[in-house]
Amino acid sequence: MPTTTRVAKLDDIEPGTAKSFEVGRVRVCVVRIGDDVYAVNDRCSHEDYSLSDGEVWEDEREIECWKHGSTFSLETGEPQSLPATKPVPVYEARVEDGEIVVEVR
Ligand code: FES
Repeated sequence: MPTTTRVAKLDDIEPGTAKSFEVGRVRVCVVRIGDDVYAVNDRCSHEDYSLSDGEVWEDEREIECWKHGSTFSLETGEPQSLPATKPVPVYEARVEDGEIVVEVR
């Protein structure tokens, strides 16, 4: 069963930044770029560090893991640089009535 959660107002996240939220039992990293939102699992696939503490690369639509510097596509979850070699799960995220909705399956 998918878990759909309104995690925050869009304005609660500054453009070009990320925040962590619990959706069901999953820790999700929600990223805002302009008025677009993305959601990926908040655990780096290399080691157990939060991607939401990393830097958002707006033009590339990627987030950089602050620990060892791998970047991950916010659209596919695929790592774009080493040392991570596995993707992170990507979730559906959208804005409804000014609120960010995330769906975790
Ligand atoms: S923990 Fe993320 S790249 Fe190492």
